Amino acid sequence: MSGVTRSQLRIPQSSDYKEVSNLSNQAQASPALLGVGILGAGPATQAIHLPSLARLGDLLEVRHIMDVDPAVAETVAGRVGANFSTSMDELLADPAVDIVAICSPHQFHAAQVIASCRAGKKAVLCEKPFAMNGEEAARISAVSAETGVPIIVGAMHTFDPGWLAAEEAWEDLPEHVHTIRSSIVLPPNPRFEDFATEIVGRVPVPGRDSTDPDVIKAMLTGGVMGLAIHDLPLVRRFTPDFEAVEVLHAEIVRPFGYVISLRAGNVSIELRAAMNATWEPSWVFEAIGDDAALKIDFTPSYVHAGSATARIRRAGRTTVLGPFGHNGYEGEWRKLAELASGTGQAPSAETLIHDLEFALSIAEAAARRVDTGRTAGTPADEEINA
Ligand SMILES: NC(=O)c1ccc[n+]([C@@H]2O[C@H](COP(=O)([O-])OP(=O)(O)OC[C@H]3O[C@@H](n4cnc5c(N)ncnc54)[C@H](O)[C@@H]3O)[C@@H](O)[C@H]2O)c1
Repeated sequence: MSGVTRSQLRIPQSSDYKEVSNLSNQAQASPALLGVGILGAGPATQAIHLPSLARLGDLLEVRHIMDVDPAVAETVAGRVGANFSTSMDELLADPAVDIVAICSPHQFHAAQVIASCRAGKKAVLCEKPFAMNGEEAARISAVSAETGVPIIVGAMHTFDPGWLAAEEAWEDLPEHVHTIRSSIVLPPNPRFEDFATEIVGRVPVPGRDSTDPDVIKAMLTGGVMGLAIHDLPLVRRFTPDFEAVEVLHAEIVRPFGYVISLRAGNVSIELRAAMNATWEPSWVFEAIGDDAALKIDFTPSYVHAGSATARIRRAGRTTVLGPFGHNGYEGEWRKLAELASGTGQAPSAETLIHDLEFALSIAEAAARRVDTGRTAGTPADEEINA
């Protein structure tokens, strides 16, 4: 989500910095562990991935941190005793790195995923969104098929044990769901980032005129591709027929958020999000049919507090699944460890492409409503709060 609100900033480029690394000081890698290399060491790496990896020290070891900002690379690497560099090629050439995590801003994801696969690494995690158009996604899929390197996308809820337990237990629910709601209320990212760690190199979010139609379009696109995208793979489990997506309503919520209603086949879908410092965090996903319904409460982004809790209600009985001991972020890393060890099944490239196409089709249709003047840009906060 942070990639979105920063979309108007100029992202630092490698050419802004002199290349540095400390590879000559290479630490001794433990052969029993899988080595992790991270491209991009911003808040997501510092507050999400490093704390998750710290809990998995019996499986994984962070061995190389790369960031185009040398101070960020060196400071973050120093926290975990890893090597650092400012060059992607150097990280990919490091034989101690088995798994690559791509945590750079979204516009670099496709090229970095492709380079990681071509470098013959054992598995790749790409933060969401893993591409920004269908053409990039198809290129990634072709390289993954050619090299055999498994890829997972950081849509963490799909790795949350609460969600996975619900999937096992919901029986024929997907055939009967007519209504889906994804409802997200979060504080601005820095609140939970700062609870998790001391962030270095945070990029300030610029002010912007949210009455400007271009800004409204960027907020809607960013809201879908940066935040709703966590739940859209879940939505797709209930709407495999997403060819017929129709966005019926789209509006922004200030200071950041969206209210989007759409229909996919016979299923009516409501996507809501609001980031506002005064609201309690809440992240609820619901799939409702006539005779059964699923409701899942997820832990907020950045928060390391165990898994989601799922409730399946059927014939007057409610089955509660979870909370389990780890969240979706840790689930991603457990999955990567399995894949890099040659066990476990990666999601199919087709699934990842369809998830991306689904998200893009919603983002594009929501933004088009701004052009046709059918998007409300000024909802009152009380309205959203209700
Ligand atoms: N899964 C989640 O809950 C979650 C939460 C926050 C962010 N994210 C995702 O993680 C990614 C990073 O987010 P962030 O909040 O850390 O963003 P950020 O943009 O603030 O930080 C990214 C870091 O990447 C560095 N960078 C810039 N260009 C680079 C390049 N070409 N190669 C390597 N590094 C480069 C920057 O210097 C910065 O330190 C984004 O894709 C974002 O969508 C996911």
